[in-house]
Amino acid sequence: MSQSTSSAPTTRDGCSVALYLRLPYRGEVELISPWLPAAASVLELGCGVGRMTRNLLARGYHVTAVDNSPDILAHVSTEASKVCANIEDLDLGEEFDAVILASCLINIPDDGLRALQLAKCRTHLQSGSPLLFERHDPAWLSAVTVGYLGDIGTVEIYVDEAARKDAEVQLCVRYQEDEHSWSHRFTVRILDDEAVQEVLSRAGFAAPRWINQRWGAAIACDHAA
Ligand SMILES: C[S@@+](CC[C@H](N)C(=O)[O-])C[C@H]1O[C@@H](n2cnc3c(N)ncnc32)[C@H](O)[C@@H]1O
Repeated sequence: MSQSTSSAPTTRDGCSVALYLRLPYRGEVELISPWLPAAASVLELGCGVGRMTRNLLARGYHVTAVDNSPDILAHVSTEASKVCANIEDLDLGEEFDAVILASCLINIPDDGLRALQLAKCRTHLQSGSPLLFERHDPAWLSAVTVGYLGDIGTVEIYVDEAARKDAEVQLCVRYQEDEHSWSHRFTVRILDDEAVQEVLSRAGFAAPRWINQRWGAAIACDHAA
């Protein structure tokens, strides 16, 4: 899905581990915490270096953190249960109070893989419990052009390439901090509210409630997919 120009360790989908260690926490747990019961068991999918994991643990949640990259999982706190696995292959034999699918993983371009991953979200949830997911703002993806995008902490972000074909967007995004630079090339699918509702419904979730333009919460229905 993505490529990094750095020779340092990368995740299996091409994210730079060094870059993800530099990205600051941005208040995601506070945003979604109204959906998390006190002391909830939380399954965090695609946890990266544990940016959100740390803050979930600090708030008293019991976190099972999943990533398919051992290099990145090594940075996650040992207070979490760590699982090195593909989301689409996950079979923990356990239901959680909540599942988190952050980092716009729902925007992967492969419809079959997305369906498999959402089915795994559903099988690891009790009926009535929420999937908290992050997706790319469809308005932003539909209009994105080359240029400076903004800062995350001390890291500046630039879009170096943007090519749209139907609902797919190929991007090359460069992260710059002082003399360090990381480029990720990846393809994403634009998912508007209607498309998100459809893929979630097929996986056994009710229509999502939107927390903001990027984050949504979908409750697992009785009938698991
Ligand atoms: C962009 S990073 C973000 C990590 C974290 N969610 C955060 O917000 O800091 C996405 C992570 O998802 C992981 N990932 C991507 N596809 C995956 C898959 N199919 N199964 C397991 N992990 C995956 C990558 O290894 C990477 O660590």
